[in-house]
Amino acid sequence: MIQEQLTSLIGKQISTKDFPEIDKIIQTLSTDLKTGKISKEDIDALNKNFGQEFLDNTLQGFGLRKPYDYTGDFLMIDKIYTYYKSPIKKYEIWDEYFHRQSAPKAVRNRKEYFKTILKEKFESYQEVHLMNVASGPARDLAEFYDQEKGCQLITSCIESDEHAIKYAKALNKNHLDKIQFVHSNIFKHREKNKYDVIWSAGLFDYFNDKAFIMIIKKFKDWLNPNGEIIIGNFNENYNPSRAYMEIFGEWYLHHRTEDQLRELAQVAGFKANQIHIGKEAQNVNLFLHIKM
Ligand SMILES: C[S@@+](CC[C@H](N)C(=O)[O-])C[C@H]1O[C@@H](n2cnc3c(N)ncnc32)[C@H](O)[C@@H]1O
Repeated sequence: MIQEQLTSLIGKQISTKDFPEIDKIIQTLSTDLKTGKISKEDIDALNKNFGQEFLDNTLQGFGLRKPYDYTGDFLMIDKIYTYYKSPIKKYEIWDEYFHRQSAPKAVRNRKEYFKTILKEKFESYQEVHLMNVASGPARDLAEFYDQEKGCQLITSCIESDEHAIKYAKALNKNHLDKIQFVHSNIFKHREKNKYDVIWSAGLFDYFNDKAFIMIIKKFKDWLNPNGEIIIGNFNENYNPSRAYMEIFGEWYLHHRTEDQLRELAQVAGFKANQIHIGKEAQNVNLFLHIKM
């Protein structure tokens, strides 16, 4: 039944009027998967049903094809930031459906959150030393440098994907005197410098709790006095597009509550009064702030 519904949607030129029907299909599939009515293999088969042309020409397909072998790669993130839509009319509307989900909206909001936080730092600092862990496309940085001309933001980006670094360097070509890109895996990374801000978004929600704690413990040694760690994480209590991400994007993340984030920071050795939780406008991405 659902398969037929989907096949008929894929075969025609859909419009925004079809969005509620797609929402319903996703919710049904998600519930059926949770209750064991269908299996992960059934979902895989449904996703294949979209056909190669669809998969090659939509953001949904990009997510499923994983050209860089992992979900949430720099290019997918940058397509979200730039509100990329397929030039082919039939598929453009599917990209519109993608962008209307609350998760991509939250990703776009976190770029704004990043810029606001950094701008506030310059109220008390003349020069800010930033470590940006898992910098991806680094569009957040490029926009900050473009907007805050002459600012003394000195950045070190730690990124494990060379393709991401190449892309980010091109985006930041006018700011490379203030940014260094370090090709490194944060689990193996060693650091001799100290930072005022250690920022990481779109990384810790891939980590289990053990890895989360281990990495923030590492960060502690890399902070200046009065430094701050800021970590983004999807919200366990609020992500209306979680089913879409998981069913049509195979994008599984460790969502966490505010309390869980606080607790992880405390297990890592930080005190309750050093911790606060921020959120972007959608409340889909939370930010764990830890101040020294
Ligand atoms: C979802 S993107 C987030 C990019 C960026 N922080 C943003 O919010 O726009 C995740 C990035 O983390 C990088 N990454 C994943 N695991 C990593 C690791 N262990 N060490 C460093 N970078 C990593 C990936 O290569 C990818 O570019």
